[in-house]
Amino acid sequence: YTCDLIRNFSIIAHIDHGKSTLADRLLELTGTIKKKEVGKNEQVLDKLKVERERGITVKAQTASMIHTVDGRQHILNLIDTPGHVDFAWEVSRSMAACQGALLLVDASQGVQAQTISVFHIARERGLKIIPVLNKIDLPAAQPELLAAQMESTFGIDPAEIISISAKTGKGVDAVLKAIVERIPPPSGKTTGPLKAFLFDSLYDRYRGVISLIAIQDGVLKKGDRIASCHTRKKYEVTDIGIMHPEEIPVNGLYPGQVGFIACNMKESSEAHIGDTLHRPGTTVEPMPGFKPAKAMVYAGIFPVDTSDFPKLEESIKRLALTDRSVTIQRESSTALGQGCRLGFLGTLHMDVFRQRLEDEYDANIIITAPTVPYKIVYKDREVYVSNPTEFPDASEMASKVIEVQEPVVKASIIVPEDYFGDMMDLCYTHRAEELEHRYLDAGTGTSARIMLNCVVPLSEIVTDFFDQLKSRSSGFASFDYEEGGYKASDLAKMVFLLNGKPVDALALIVHRSHEDDIGRAWVKKLVKVIPRQMYEVPIQAAVGKKIIARETLSAYRADVTAGLYGGHVERKMKVLERQKEGKARMKRMGTVDLPQEAFFEIMKK
Ligand code: GTP
Repeated sequence: YTCDLIRNFSIIAHIDHGKSTLADRLLELTGTIKKKEVGKNEQVLDKLKVERERGITVKAQTASMIHTVDGRQHILNLIDTPGHVDFAWEVSRSMAACQGALLLVDASQGVQAQTISVFHIARERGLKIIPVLNKIDLPAAQPELLAAQMESTFGIDPAEIISISAKTGKGVDAVLKAIVERIPPPSGKTTGPLKAFLFDSLYDRYRGVISLIAIQDGVLKKGDRIASCHTRKKYEVTDIGIMHPEEIPVNGLYPGQVGFIACNMKESSEAHIGDTLHRPGTTVEPMPGFKPAKAMVYAGIFPVDTSDFPKLEESIKRLALTDRSVTIQRESSTALGQGCRLGFLGTLHMDVFRQRLEDEYDANIIITAPTVPYKIVYKDREVYVSNPTEFPDASEMASKVIEVQEPVVKASIIVPEDYFGDMMDLCYTHRAEELEHRYLDAGTGTSARIMLNCVVPLSEIVTDFFDQLKSRSSGFASFDYEEGGYKASDLAKMVFLLNGKPVDALALIVHRSHEDDIGRAWVKKLVKVIPRQMYEVPIQAAVGKKIIARETLSAYRADVTAGLYGGHVERKMKVLERQKEGKARMKRMGTVDLPQEAFFEIMKK
């Protein structure tokens, strides 16, 4: 073992630029996995079913490869990073264990919004960046133009750029060569006191918490005792190995190596991401950790059948063990019963979690409209509210609340010049402020692209912003954002009344400038999905005492036996029985029966 023979790197790119495909080619080329037929892209590192289905990487995965150069075996540790804007936290934490990064750019698409943000994270961490242009097999690829773009945007020397096709494998050997030649080996002393960096954790049904670690100094072996700088708790290493990409046990992990350990940790909260592990009795300077992931989008999750709550809660807790960025709280609703309020990094994250809950735990759930955390400023205190039912009502707002603030993000959009007007319009209708723009590739003629920066309320982004951005730019716009703090805003709680009774699960927090539009749109939607009742039902949207919008559901009497002639008692009973079953699946909303399907319809945006 020597440190010189180790390289730790990650692949960073905008979504869909080919990270997972390149990772697979590297694993094949080093013989880590068997070569697959060209064109068949079953990505090895994307382990979760949702990742396969959606083609996005959610959870960072790690793999060690062995690559021989001049008869010397090198260990290349690839730390895979997820690609979606919601997962920036996972990206930065994956990069902390690396000395270098492959900056991958799709040669037919060019530099996109996330290419820029990941580039900056990598540069701030002092990583050696290897620029790679991917998909040069595509007819639309413009490698020369993009080399110029990467030079002007990042100051990258075009001579350093490697052009490849991750799909066909062309040029991938040059990437492997560059990893060994250009990325510095980790520095660390075998003899120093043990210092290991914990950068990820997994949960295993049988062994409990598995931590992924990068050894900074010293050697860690099975049976060793370790302590956490963060919790001060002590453990014994019961299992140690590397991910190859499947787990392979090893005798010990040496400086610069990346691997996994199991040590009798029971709760995944004990594996504190960013923690430094050391030997009990020694003191080490902890490595700079991470800012903990902050939930920015909240939604209530309820079982369709209220008696399923204990099972649902158990499933949510188990799933959250594999995803440390989800926060969980109990919540109850008069309409939906007992449920959980979960916090997510973003809406895609929420979607992925929901889908995993359904796929892996067979859960039948209702999820409420997403809300961001609002800050309510009182004279003597500040309170964060992420559930519309807890938002102060009109009288409290008038008497006690000084102001309400909402989270905003700094957004950047990159778009071809032709769509600039549409993007400005999109930003304005989503309450964007501080708009500025600049040409990204001045002088490249036909493909001039503009980078638009603005400050947008997060609540505007969690709804339809991304879909509209894509559709209004014919898919050409790319988008990224980072936290931008809180700003005072004119917000109010909107409630929906069925037959004069508010339905708590439908409450929303809205900006006053949007209240009419939102109120009208929602009552229109409600009147379509709520089945007619025995009597007339008014459906109203209200802010405080003010009714914003109203629709009336006319009365209807369902006589399911009307079409049947007398005498067929059995048949009549059967029909009535079926109707009763249908009733059982209904939820009481105020005094109105709302079938589950209606609720699903409403919650779909
Ligand atoms: P995320 O993990 O979601 O960020 O995506 P990714 O960056 O891992 O992209 P992925 O490897 O899933 O590739 C995205 C799409 O581009 C897939 O359909 C790939 O088959 C395709 N692709 C990747 N590399 C190449 C290439 O060199 N040429 C062509 N033509 N297609 C490629």
